[in-house]
Amino acid sequence: MAVNTASPSIDDLLQHIRPAVRERSEYVVDMPSGIDVKLNQNESPFDLPDDLKEELLNAYRQVEMNRYPSEQPDKLRHALAEHDGVDPDCILVGNGSNEITYTFGLAFLDPGDPVVLPRPMFSLYEKVARLQDADLTTVPPREDFGFDADALADAAAETDAALTILTTPNNPTGLAMTLGEIEQVVTASSGFVVVDEAYVEFNPEGPAVELLDRHPNVLILRTLSKGFGLAGVRLGYLIAHPTVVRELMKARLPFMVDRFAEQTALAVLRRPGLIADRVQQLQTSIADLTDALQAMDRVDVVPSQANFVIFTTPVPADALQNRLADRGVLVRNMGGYPELQGYLRVSAGTEAENNAFLAALETSLSEIATGTGA
Ligand SMILES: Cc1ncc(COP(=O)(O)O)c(C=O)c1O
Repeated sequence: MAVNTASPSIDDLLQHIRPAVRERSEYVVDMPSGIDVKLNQNESPFDLPDDLKEELLNAYRQVEMNRYPSEQPDKLRHALAEHDGVDPDCILVGNGSNEITYTFGLAFLDPGDPVVLPRPMFSLYEKVARLQDADLTTVPPREDFGFDADALADAAAETDAALTILTTPNNPTGLAMTLGEIEQVVTASSGFVVVDEAYVEFNPEGPAVELLDRHPNVLILRTLSKGFGLAGVRLGYLIAHPTVVRELMKARLPFMVDRFAEQTALAVLRRPGLIADRVQQLQTSIADLTDALQAMDRVDVVPSQANFVIFTTPVPADALQNRLADRGVLVRNMGGYPELQGYLRVSAGTEAENNAFLAALETSLSEIATGTGA
């Protein structure tokens, strides 16, 4: 019998990769060189204080690196449960909330399952729905860019959505939903409703966790990347009905939370005063930044309930973003969202970072207007 020993070509191999994957693009965040002021990813500008890092180094020394971590670190689960006033069985921790989002996709979505997503919203959700070949219904925003709760509730009911996603405050707009609006969507849904509260610490509307008492289809998604300032550590968690948590555990990769992340999160959770103080500083920072942008000629701002704000100017967003980057300031162009053509997003920084951004913005706008500069 003849055996074909020739290796397949790359083109042949590509045919074995699912179309739903091949049609997507990679998640890439630009990081040009020469950036001193990084305000493009809604991160906290504050690293952990030195004394806390010292404490952590000691804790890391005790870590047995030859041993697997426990699948759901018990102490961390309890600490997070206490933080949110829920039962530890309601908590599932993950390698950033993004990882848990992928787990939803695996656990909830068969090809063709209806999914409802408001627009514009954090792009990962559309990606996960499309990777699972779900049947996506997107719901446009109101004129002020806020989520349209009536239209979302209708869409969830009419499509019999298996999954509806809300983010509040929303990235990229910074706008929050009221508890009543969230509950309206939840009540209309027979499937799951994820409420992504990545920016909950900044949200004057407060958390939506009480909905869990009334609605077992609610899943609250949290991250320690924003208010807690731990984007580099990768820790997110879910608050949901214990039965739902147990089912999700069957779909997920084991050991996603390493022992270092666990120790770091525990140490930060033991310092609620530090986090509260920083969140307050960032709330002042975003209010000051918004005021300064609003005071600028021909700049339009969408006031935000998170730690970032979007704004538009008469200048094309990509040209302005490049000018700012030339001056060492990195912000994010929102042009990938059809509703937000012409908008840039800037995160709240330290006072010095905000001032550097505002100075660079003024100079860049006047250079572009007068056709001077680079
Ligand atoms: C709405 C939203 N959810 C989740 C995340 C990411 O969270 P994590 O760092 O925990 O994966 C972000 C990050 O920008 C976000 O804006």
